[in-house]
Amino acid sequence: MSKAASKAKATDTALEDIEIELFVRALKLRHGYDFTQYAPASLRRRVLQLAHAHHADTVSALTTRLLHEPDFLPLVLEGLSVPVSEMFRDPDVFKALREQVFPVLASYPQINVWQAGCAHGQEVYSLAILLEEAGLYERTQIYATDFNEAALKHAQEGIYPAKEAQLWSRNYLAAGGSHTLADYYSARYELIKLDQRLRRNVIFANHNLVTDEVFCEAHLVLCRNVLIYFSDPLQDRTLALFRDSLVRGGFLCLGTRESLDFAPSATDFTPVDAARRIYRLGSRNAGKE
Ligand SMILES: C[S@@+](CC[C@H](N)C(=O)[O-])C[C@H]1O[C@@H](n2cnc3c(N)ncnc32)[C@H](O)[C@@H]1O
Repeated sequence: MSKAASKAKATDTALEDIEIELFVRALKLRHGYDFTQYAPASLRRRVLQLAHAHHADTVSALTTRLLHEPDFLPLVLEGLSVPVSEMFRDPDVFKALREQVFPVLASYPQINVWQAGCAHGQEVYSLAILLEEAGLYERTQIYATDFNEAALKHAQEGIYPAKEAQLWSRNYLAAGGSHTLADYYSARYELIKLDQRLRRNVIFANHNLVTDEVFCEAHLVLCRNVLIYFSDPLQDRTLALFRDSLVRGGFLCLGTRESLDFAPSATDFTPVDAARRIYRLGSRNAGKE
């Protein structure tokens, strides 16, 4: 690349950065959604993808739509929030929950689980199935939250492409499932629908980890593949929120690319299975509440 071309590219990038900053500010001022503390590189990528998807020549054109078209907000949130998931994603994590966490949960008369960043609900149904098979579901309340309203609606419907079923069935067995996944869904044309009985103890709710407060008193908080999108200070805030939501001796499960290491709240937790990012609030001998 010639010197002149690389200078022009740097100017374009700098200009784009300004436009992205203004877009994020508009999102906050106009709609109250605060992305200012999301990790800059991935946020930048997603804003540019959004501009591309909506045929906007510039990010400023997106900002104009965001300010003036009320119907545009859900599309923006969908584009920025990456609601990608799968059933029994990282099956060994679900196996570890079943083997190391469920026996402790079994000692509580009522079990509250907060699943934060539930996306399209695949993890919610996965958890419900394992809790059902462990005989714990009847006394469990799962609070499944996300800030993306469209994702929550999808999660409630529990309808997914049938082509996913093969991988999810393998995941289910690897997670230690004791039946076959097909026992929990009905298939029609290209779609599968999860058994709606699995939803009987689930409350889906809109909750924003950036701006909202403690959600419930939980025995298990599962928040996987959400913190990766946050800057370090926002991760710290969110981890403190989870700590404050958990009963003493409660469990926290993060994504495999996330960890408590280096976070100020690390000292509040003890690793239960560090490789699978499962932690327990309090000391190794933490008692039950
Ligand atoms: C990659 S998905 C993770 C889904 C699932 N937990 C998993 O690991 O398969 C990230 C989810 O986090 C949600 N999310 C991102 N920022 C959030 C926030 N500030 N408050 C609540 N949810 C948020 C997104 O809407 C998206 O559904």
